Order: sequence, then structure tokens, then C-alpha cells
Amino acid sequence: MTAEEKDEMIVTPWEVRGKVDYERLIHEFGTLPLTDGLLQRIEKHAGSSHLQLRRRLFFSHRDLDTVINLYEKGTKFVLYTGRGPSGPVHIGHLVPWIFTKHLQEAFKTRLYFQMTDDEKFVVDDDAKLKQTTKYGLENALDLIALGFKPENTYIIYDVQDIDMLYDIALEVAKHITYSTAKATFGFQESTNLGWIFWPAIQAVPCFIHKKLTGENVPALIPAAIDQDPFWRITRDIAPKLGYFKPAQIHCRFLPGLGVGGKMSASEPETAIFTVDPPEVVKRKVWNAFTGGKGTIAEQRKTGADPSVCSIYQYFLFLFEEDDKKLLEREQQCRTGKMLCGDCKKELTERLNKFLTEHQKKREQAKNNLEKYRIKR
Ligand code: TYM
Repeated sequence: MTAEEKDEMIVTPWEVRGKVDYERLIHEFGTLPLTDGLLQRIEKHAGSSHLQLRRRLFFSHRDLDTVINLYEKGTKFVLYTGRGPSGPVHIGHLVPWIFTKHLQEAFKTRLYFQMTDDEKFVVDDDAKLKQTTKYGLENALDLIALGFKPENTYIIYDVQDIDMLYDIALEVAKHITYSTAKATFGFQESTNLGWIFWPAIQAVPCFIHKKLTGENVPALIPAAIDQDPFWRITRDIAPKLGYFKPAQIHCRFLPGLGVGGKMSASEPETAIFTVDPPEVVKRKVWNAFTGGKGTIAEQRKTGADPSVCSIYQYFLFLFEEDDKKLLEREQQCRTGKMLCGDCKKELTERLNKFLTEHQKKREQAKNNLEKYRIKR
């Protein structure tokens, strides 16, 4: 791959590469930027400000205003998000889930969470269905460990629960032509048939609430922007099937610990997995790319650049709640008062503190998986 190709931005549900230009994505995907006005309306209803909103980590949406308007007139909504269980969960995946939990608590809504073991099987030539299904159950532990309550959280495991999904998937699939799917997802002659049908399955949880409860309410989907192509086709056909168009709120990608790109399980040395032990976390953070200078003396003199530093992003996204302290960190970095070693040490401590607790809760979650299933 040439340097130019490496830098070229690719954002699809199955590949994120290059330097991600979020303004350009809003333009190309045809979404809307999250405005101050909309943000304030959410904060008013939530009764608090969430760091992912106020730092514009969630930056774009579709129909969020419609959902809030309806809510203000008494129509509730449900939340929907998910995971493609191709391996262990990394902390980038937690970003939209943490925000989803905030919304769920603030708006007292039901969450449907889709575990797409079928997707990960069809899109990867080497994947085994037994393995993706097993990862589905393991990944659910991470969701539960974040504190989602079984009373209003419903985890759908595609392969096990397909009987519940199939009628709606068929309705969806019948209304989407191959040419639309091809234009949206870039399918090729060589794409297998399972993959081509598959987007109809990701659409189902947008609509399943009506089937389960009789209530027709919109779904709001918090996720990173890579999932947006699914919603474009789903939104087109929703009114034809008698449903609200699903709304979205999109977040940026937590980068990996290397240079640029998103945190991705396919580059394990630059990803922090929720099951990583402390010494592995330490090693990965210690090897991370920063905005630092060649020598300590030079950095003390001229400062470093937090805007390109992977470590800084972890404080921004997850590990520094206090805006004032975040700003101080940025200024101390720019002026050479704080060195990369200081930030790496602190991040390692915060990550390991978080992960130790998370891993304990993951263990406890093993007894509770059944409570999150949809009862028949
Ligand atoms: P998956 O498993 O690729 O990703 C799970 C969720 O994590 C988001 N994400 C990230 N967010 C921030 N920083 C990152 N580095 C990062 N990497 C991934 C994804 O946007 C996603 O929200 N097809 C889906 C599974 C799915 C789904 C859904 C996701 C089914 N229904 C509804 C969102 C909403 C998938 O493979 O996600």
C-alpha cells in the first residue's frame, strides 16, 4: 500500500482507514451536525451534561430533533445499539455504550442491543460461526459490566433469536433492491449471498419494539459513524412498513495507540481490550505514539503537540471527567511542563483502575446473562 493510499479516508461498517475527516463525513453521508441548541435540549431533559456531548465526541445526527420533539409531546423512544462479536471488546466499543447508558438513565427508555454473530460470520472468510456466537456471549458480559439493568435492557443474539427477527427482516429485504444495497455498501460480484442479505437483519431492532409491545415509537441509535450506511437504507423503507424512521446520534472513533486510525481489534498492540491484564496495558501504553519530541531537553524547551497524541485522546474520551484538568494537561503539554512519560504513567494507572473494576463486574455478569434475554 502506498503512503497516499494509507492516508486516504475509508469509513464503512467493515473498514475504517486513514485520517478521518468528520466534517467531510457529515457532508458525504448527508447527516446533520449536532448543534448547540440540540445539545442544550438533551441536557435539559437529562438533567446533566455528559462529557461525550459537551466535548462533541458525539458530533452528528439524523432526526435527533424529531425524536426530542416527539418526546416533548409525550411520545417516548427506544434506544438501539449493538456489537459485531469478532473478538474481545476494546475500550473504543465502550464509548457509544457508555453514552447509551447515560441516555437510558436520563430518558428512562428501553434498550435493544444486537449481538451480530451472524454478521461477523458472513463478512469474514475465516470466521467460524461457533466462535462468533461464543464471542457474542462473552461480549455481552462487557455490556452488563457497564451497569445496564436487566429490567430495560434486551440483548438479541442473532443466531439464537432469529425466529423473532426473521419476519421483519423479510419485510425489510423485500423493499430494498440489490442496486441500492450495492451502492450503499459497495458489494461486489464476489460478495457472498449471506452478506448481501445481512443488512436487513441489522435493521430489525429499529422496529422490533412494536412487535413485542404493540407500541409504535421511534428508535434512537447511538453508535460511531461507521454504522451510518445501515440506517440510510433502513430510514428509506421505514415509512413504507408503517414505522418511524430510526434516528441516530453519531460519535467519533477513539483512536488506537498508534498513528491515526481508529482503535481496532485487528491491530491488537494498539488496542486496549477489556480483558487485558495490567502488565499488558502498561506495555501497550508505554509503546504508544505521542506528540512528543525526540529528546526530553527539546520537549522541555519547545513543548509537544497534544492534537496528534494518542494518549491525550484517552483522557479526552474517557479518563478525565474534569474539563479544567483536561485543559491544564493540554497546556502543560504544549509548554513542555508535562512530559509524555507523565501522561503515560497516569493513563496506565487510570486504565488499570477502570479495568480491574470492569473485570470484576464482568465475572459477576456471568450469572446474569439469561436475565437480559427477551422472554418468549
Ligand atoms: P462493531 O462491533 O464494529 O462496533 C460496536 C460499536 O462500537 C463502535 N466503535 C467505536 N466507537 C468508538 N471508537 C472506536 N474505535 C470504535 N470502534 C467501533 C461502533 O460504531 C459500534 O457502535 N454491525 C455492528 C453491530 C451492530 C450495531 C447495531 C452497532 C448491530 N446493530 C446498532 C451499532 C448500532 C458492528 O459490527 O459493530
